[in-house]
Amino acid sequence: MSRKVVIKLGGGLITDKGREKTVDADAVRSVAKFIAEITDIGYAVILVHGAGSYGHILAKKWSIASGSNSSIIENQRKAVSQIRKDMVELNTIVIDSLELHGLQCECLPPSDWAIGTGKEFSGDISIFENENGVIPITFGDVVDTNDSKEFGILSGDDIMLRLSTEIDGVSHAVFLIGDAPGIMDRPPNQDGAILLESWGPNDVVNSEHYEEIDVTGGIRLKMDRAREISRNVENVWIIDGREPSRLLELLTRGQTIGTRIMPS
Ligand code: IPE
Repeated sequence: MSRKVVIKLGGGLITDKGREKTVDADAVRSVAKFIAEITDIGYAVILVHGAGSYGHILAKKWSIASGSNSSIIENQRKAVSQIRKDMVELNTIVIDSLELHGLQCECLPPSDWAIGTGKEFSGDISIFENENGVIPITFGDVVDTNDSKEFGILSGDDIMLRLSTEIDGVSHAVFLIGDAPGIMDRPPNQDGAILLESWGPNDVVNSEHYEEIDVTGGIRLKMDRAREISRNVENVWIIDGREPSRLLELLTRGQTIGTRIMPS
């Protein structure tokens, strides 16, 4: 069985988070090239991506993360189906880029297989095993909740946790972010921000990245989920997706520029 790597492409990496439905085509292209390279060296890839401006803006406008609200429910339902459509559109762009490198992908939208939000969502994780070389690819999405909330947002970070810890043979879980080289000791746009080469739950950081437009929890959620993954998976990293050669370096040399997450 080949070694497996679960990778999250943050929404802030593959889109311009502030401008509705704006993909960062260069970022998608360059990351796709390195995903192809890591499959060439024998890794089975399982891919998750975020929403960025294909999800957060509309989700925030209609309070989709808080579930149904009777006074705006008609608009919310319209927004739910629009976000799902937009996410499939973003996913198609990612898949097209991967296919240009000869990779085969299978699109698995959460609204088809997952129920509920947060890390306890239910759904059949085994469809992501990747035993046949076809890259299973999913994303943060609006999902049904099967309760009075009706719908909610399932973050790709929660999906990362479940895939990385429940699929056999995962040696690496890597979060590629778009605004920093890893976890910084303070917000990355502040002067003097320093990259932490490793981060454990007892290390205190003030690392709020782009919280103001994020409906799922920004870097904090990634850090929490990465920490949980590190209890089961040996190599858990948060690295700069704008420098995707670091992904290859990590998998070939065991080290790169970025933050290694240490278990609690
Ligand atoms: C958010 O998913 C999903 C929606 C807003 C529809 P993520 O939490 O995985 O997205 P990013 O990485 O923050 O954009």
